[in-house]
Amino acid sequence: MPLNIIIGTQWGDEGKGTITDMMADKADIVARYSGGDNAGHTVTVGDEIFKLHLIPSGIINSNTICIIGNGVVLNPTIFIREIEELEKRGIDISPNRLKISKSAHIITPAHIALDTASEMARGDKAIGTTKRGIGPAYMDKTQRVGIRAEAFADPENLADLIKEHVTEKNQILKSIYGAEPLDETAVAIQYVDYAKRLAPYLVDGVVMLDDALRADKNVLAEGAQGTFLDLDHGTYPYVTSSWPTSGGVLIGLGVGPKYVDRVIGVTKAFTSRVGSGPFPCELDGDMALRLRGTGSKPWDEFGTTTGRPRRVGWLDLVMLKHAIRINGFTDLVISKLDILSGLDEIKVCVAYEINGERTENYPTTLTDLEKCSPVYETLPGWQEDIMEARVPSDLPENARAYVAYISEKIGLPIPYASVGPARRQTVAF
Ligand code: GDP
Ligand code: IMO
Ligand code: MG
Repeated sequence: MPLNIIIGTQWGDEGKGTITDMMADKADIVARYSGGDNAGHTVTVGDEIFKLHLIPSGIINSNTICIIGNGVVLNPTIFIREIEELEKRGIDISPNRLKISKSAHIITPAHIALDTASEMARGDKAIGTTKRGIGPAYMDKTQRVGIRAEAFADPENLADLIKEHVTEKNQILKSIYGAEPLDETAVAIQYVDYAKRLAPYLVDGVVMLDDALRADKNVLAEGAQGTFLDLDHGTYPYVTSSWPTSGGVLIGLGVGPKYVDRVIGVTKAFTSRVGSGPFPCELDGDMALRLRGTGSKPWDEFGTTTGRPRRVGWLDLVMLKHAIRINGFTDLVISKLDILSGLDEIKVCVAYEINGERTENYPTTLTDLEKCSPVYETLPGWQEDIMEARVPSDLPENARAYVAYISEKIGLPIPYASVGPARRQTVAF
């Protein structure tokens, strides 16, 4: 009966895809509950690397059924492209295995044009969005004018809805942003074609998940984005437009809390952020280059969706404790422990100073966040490459001590740390 949940504890890209793939062999269903193709989840199996934006990472595991929940905003162009790429690689993505909740909302080219235009208009206050139309699609949802996936079942009606939608957005594009309007007929024709392809994937997501949970099936909710990109709990306004935190799972799938078993937080052994906004532990100079990598390795810190270099810093326990408060984690998984190999010292942020006053609580206002300077504790590093470690005794003592230190500071068990991108590169504690 359990619903297990995987959530990013930072600003996204914590390695949620890798952990989801690892846990998918025990899951009957893997579900995405929020966000859209702003996500980029990497799964490495042997020599093969899969980069997924919309389709849940559980799809790589042949026994798992995957669903796009009602809380997701779905760009059909990207979804179909992903289906085709997976098909070419021999993955079964038939409607038996992949489902879309009829209540998920659809992203259109008008949303993407508005995202791009509004980012340009913000100038140096730009959020640094992925320009995937996420914000405008959620705006339509909350304004109660969005188009839901259920419309794929009725292509003629969809054509009318799309024409009306594009015509309305064209007015905003032209009059507010001075941007080029879109051809509403061309978009409608394209979406009618998509509807024919995607209608077989539609389900009542709430009934499907309820039936599964009642039948004692194991459901895994795959988080996208991260706690500090949450619309309510992140570094507003430098956030995404959905709720990646654990509350978002219940809304984004339509399940009740009684089914929840584990809420697993995923944190990198350090911190990264892509896009604008406060980042108290951000590093620059040589140490930033060292943590980010040069881009020569597949796991170096460059955005999976946009290719942008990620901003990097030390692990921030003030943030992590705040993420624990918001999400109610039962346990924590650490990724990319291997990246810290070769450092003499490792710093961990344990508090902030704001106007000379120390606090261990994450400030919720942008004004305070911008004034924060991190207070670090320093731990000894290790020199050995740990990518082949599989059991704790394979790890150098200082690597084990780093994990134990985090677990002790946050008061949660750490059942795993990953030491490489592949499925097998995990150490269970
Ligand atoms: P997600 O968005 O949370 O799924 O994370 P991303 O896939 O965007 O970014 C994580 C990156 O780190 C990917 O390239 C993963 O393959 C890689 N990765 C995950 N865990 C590890 C690890 O333990 N070590 C290394 N070196 N790479 C990892
Ligand atoms: P995964 O699931 C990292 C960031 C964008 C930007 C902000 C708003 O791979 O962890 P949006 O396009 O959502 O309106 O952009 O959110 N962002 C992510 N950063 N990983 C992600 O997803 C992200 N999804 C959105 O960079 O700062
Ligand atoms: Mg990512």
